[in-house]
Order: sequence, then structure tokens, then C-alpha cells
Amino acid sequence: MAKVYVFDHPLIQHKLTFIRDKNTGTKEFRELVDEVATLMAFEITRDMPLEEIEVETPVGKANAKILSGKKIGVVPILRAGIGMVDGILKLIPAAKVGHIGLYRDPETLKPVEYYVKLPSDVEERDFILVDPMLATGGSAVEAVNSLKKRGAKSIKFMCLIAAPEGVETLKKAHPDVDIYIAALDEKLNEKGYIVPGLGDAGDRLFGTK
Ligand code: PRP
Ligand code: URA
Repeated sequence: MAKVYVFDHPLIQHKLTFIRDKNTGTKEFRELVDEVATLMAFEITRDMPLEEIEVETPVGKANAKILSGKKIGVVPILRAGIGMVDGILKLIPAAKVGHIGLYRDPETLKPVEYYVKLPSDVEERDFILVDPMLATGGSAVEAVNSLKKRGAKSIKFMCLIAAPEGVETLKKAHPDVDIYIAALDEKLNEKGYIVPGLGDAGDRLFGTK
């Protein structure tokens, strides 16, 4: 069964408060999402495997450690996931980046896929799928379907804010995908927005609407 991790690190929680605040403008919102993505990437990479190597320091030989696991792929769900990519790449600069374009039909709330481009070696990578919001869960489920259909074997899903409905839907559809969130909110409203949430992540990130 999928595990759900809520990152309660004080820096993540502090920055998330200002991300939520409706008075935070686009520039600051974008900067804060980028910073929180970096902090979350630090936490999500905790279980990366290491191997020992010998390195020569100016003073002598040291038994030291380097990362030894599979290569990483970062995949934002467009649009809003884009805001989290650079923050992750600051810590994992060698990661390759794929893109999955989905929008949520405002009437049905069902995801509509319009673009997919992934690294060619999909099967050999550990993927971090990112989107600030996990609301009904439809977009995340569809994005994981899309990754798996193309051969992805190892996927983690990382978002800023989740609704309980979205967590349950994603867990049920993809029990092998662990979920990493900064906050688990109360519920969805009648329009499928997370309450209290942060509003429309794409619009706040890109200044649209
Ligand atoms: C938002 C958000 C997620 C999706 C979450 O994107 O970034 O992708 O909604 O909702 P769900 O869990 O109910 O599927 P949106 O569809 O507004 O597209 P955008 O990022 O292009 O604005
Ligand atoms: N998408 C958003 O951007 N915000 C929500 O609260 C739900 C879906």
C-alpha cells in the first residue's frame, strides 16, 4: 500500500503559510514555491542509496560516499507543476525532465491530457512526479497512468497541498506510488478546489486570470 508522508519541517510550514496567503503576489508566490520544492526534494531523497568510494583529500585517503542509485526523472504536471521543477533541480542537477500536460475540465473535473514528452530511458529512472495540488486526484492518477504506460517502474508523487479525497483516490489507483505532501487540508469545495488550499495554483504562479 502507498505510504503518505507529510513534511512538517518548520521551514516548509512557514513558507507554505505565505504561499497560501491571498495577498502574496505572483513574484513572491513563484519564489516560495521554488524554495519549498527544494526543501521537499531534500526530504524526498532521504532514502537514496549510497556506495563507498575512496577519495584523496589534501591530507590523506578517505572512505567517502557517493550516490549509487538509479538516475532521476522529474516530471511536472503542466502547468502548475513547472513551478516546482527548478527547486528540485537545484539539488539534483543531473535529473532529466519530462512533461505531462493535463488540464482539469471545469465542468466534469476530469483530466484532459494534451501533451507528453519523457526522457527516452523511462524504464531506468526513478521518477518524481510533481504538481502543487492534489485535489480530486484525477490529474495525478492520469499522469501516473501515462508514465506507467510508457514504461516507468518507480514513481513518487510530490505536491504542496492535498485533499483527503485526492490522497485516497491516488492510493487506490496506484498503491505502489508513495505520496509526499507539505500539508493535508480539510476537504474539497463544490468546484473541486481544496479548502482552505491556496486557490488556483496555475493562475497564482503565472499571474493569469
Ligand atoms: C490543477 C493542479 C492539478 C489539478 C489538481 O491544474 O495544478 O494539476 O488542478 O486537480 P485534481 O486533483 O482534481 O485533478 P489545472 O487543471 O487547473 O491546470 P493548470 O495547471 O494548467 O492551471
Ligand atoms: N487545482 C488548483 O489549482 N487548486 C485547487 O484547489 C484544486 C485544483
